[in-house]
Amino acid sequence: HAPDRPLKSFARFPVGCAVTAERLADPADAALIARHFSQLTPEWEMKMEYILQDDGTFRFDAPDAIAGFAHEHGLRLFGHNLVWYAQNPVAFRRLDGKPKAFADAYRNYILAVAGRYAGQAVGWDVVNEAVAEDGNGLRACLWSRNLGQIDYIRRAFDHAHEADPTAVLFINDYNLESLPKKRASFVRLVEKLLQAGAPVGGVGTQTHIDAGLEPGALRRTLGDLADFGLPIHVSELDISLNRAGPAWRSRAGLAEAQLRLAEEAAEAFSTLAANQRFAFTLWGLKDGQSWLRSPKENRHPPWDAPLAFDDAGRRKPVFDALAAGF
Ligand code: XIL
Repeated sequence: HAPDRPLKSFARFPVGCAVTAERLADPADAALIARHFSQLTPEWEMKMEYILQDDGTFRFDAPDAIAGFAHEHGLRLFGHNLVWYAQNPVAFRRLDGKPKAFADAYRNYILAVAGRYAGQAVGWDVVNEAVAEDGNGLRACLWSRNLGQIDYIRRAFDHAHEADPTAVLFINDYNLESLPKKRASFVRLVEKLLQAGAPVGGVGTQTHIDAGLEPGALRRTLGDLADFGLPIHVSELDISLNRAGPAWRSRAGLAEAQLRLAEEAAEAFSTLAANQRFAFTLWGLKDGQSWLRSPKENRHPPWDAPLAFDDAGRRKPVFDALAAGF
């Protein structure tokens, strides 16, 4: 058994946790988060659907509370996210088909949000999940329709850089370890953006995986992404016991596979070059609070246990596997 040390004390790089303002208002959760982690990502409340109101005004209460907590406890703040195909607030839908007004509102939004946390946020996911799931290029979305397929991404980086020239600006995506074709198309996107002079400063791989992931896939993915020489963020790690689902696997078998993958992720990340280890972030604190437990994520059963702490806040074997890999 590893001694009762904070998770972050095992790592030579920041270890992050996704949080909500509500969770930080709970004294027990807040204490666990401040003890074990060195970086916070808002799980929900720095996204456009939270911040941007129907009338075009902004709401910064919860994101400010998270930023305040990070400041008070000496933790890094990581911004997530500025532009995401999955969020299309009314204030932008209203401007659909009006390119000039749309572009102005887009710049205005990014300047306001990235600008508000400039000097505190160490980095931002500027564009989230731009690559199509089948690996055939980029997703079509509200943003690409109004600003152009690659241009909406370039512009977002330019505006974010204007707002906060010191933040490391990330392009972030998921399923890069399980879908090689998608990974290749993500790599091509990063190349294109860099060639075009976009201020891309880092590469984010969400790492929402399941215990059935083939061993070696995480290591290979981090290796491919590291070829850019840019900082890498394992930005949203969780390891589901369910999604894998091969019927022949017992739950105990899945739990073992989960531990091997946690250790592989931690070990593969910690052997990257020192200047490429931006941070290693878990997508939540306790299993019971994981987004995979939400009724909206109904592919997941109520017993899914993807994180490092159990429902009661006790460290799990996943914690020890991460610590061993770090
Ligand atoms: C999820 C949050 O965990 C949920 O609480 C929220 O309702 C929806 O978004 N990829 C991402 C994250 O980049 O922003 C998502 O977070 C999970 C998948």
